[in-house]
Amino acid sequence: MSHEPAHRGRVVALASGSGSNVQALLDADPPLPVAAAITDRPEAGVRDRMAAAGIPSEVVPRAAHADRAAWEAALARAVAAYAPDVVVLAGFMRILSGAFVARWPMLNVHPSLLPAFPGAHAVADALAHGVKLSGATVHFAAEEVDAGPIVAQQAVAVDPEDTVASLHARIQRVEHALLPQAVAWQLGGRLRVDGRLVHVLADPADPGDPGEAPPDPV
Ligand code: GAR
Repeated sequence: MSHEPAHRGRVVALASGSGSNVQALLDADPPLPVAAAITDRPEAGVRDRMAAAGIPSEVVPRAAHADRAAWEAALARAVAAYAPDVVVLAGFMRILSGAFVARWPMLNVHPSLLPAFPGAHAVADALAHGVKLSGATVHFAAEEVDAGPIVAQQAVAVDPEDTVASLHARIQRVEHALLPQAVAWQLGGRLRVDGRLVHVLADPADPGDPGEAPPDPV
């Protein structure tokens, strides 16, 4: 058991896929306080993970709404009902408006070293480009996709034998450490955004913690 105090606040996760990054928030020590996960896909694996953890999940499908604005308004209502302190985009594969991303502090996890390879096919794009290093990024969401101020990044070496699946699996292992760390910093009031630069402030509860600590490359 951890002797760290529990995190205070409420996290709402938006996810379209398996939800392994939401799982990483639940598995953190101490666990991050995930109040709910909301998905656009009824079949998303994240719903099974939430059911297993006894945490509510909701589906707000795009197809059930006449247009993008109506869908996004329904999504905003669903998120607002849980009064989040931070919203986490954990593999949420739909574009959100500037008004939506400005409504709550919002962190996104992305499987590349941004600004390289934004978009929905980051791992395939990195492989196709022949890069030797890729990695994971956690950043504040902004109106422009995958472009907000960067909170944390960690590099992953590309193996010549890598497939999209093998490289993505190694990047996700890194995501599962970076994302909980970034969410904990945000809930602890330790992130200060200064233009494009995000400063990680020292932990007031731990005089030995100097703040920013670059992770070791994998
Ligand atoms: C994650 O690797 C995340 O970085 C990626 O989707 C995956 C979701 O996995 N997001 C994007 O590509 C966003 N552009 P998960 O459902 O197992 O957490």
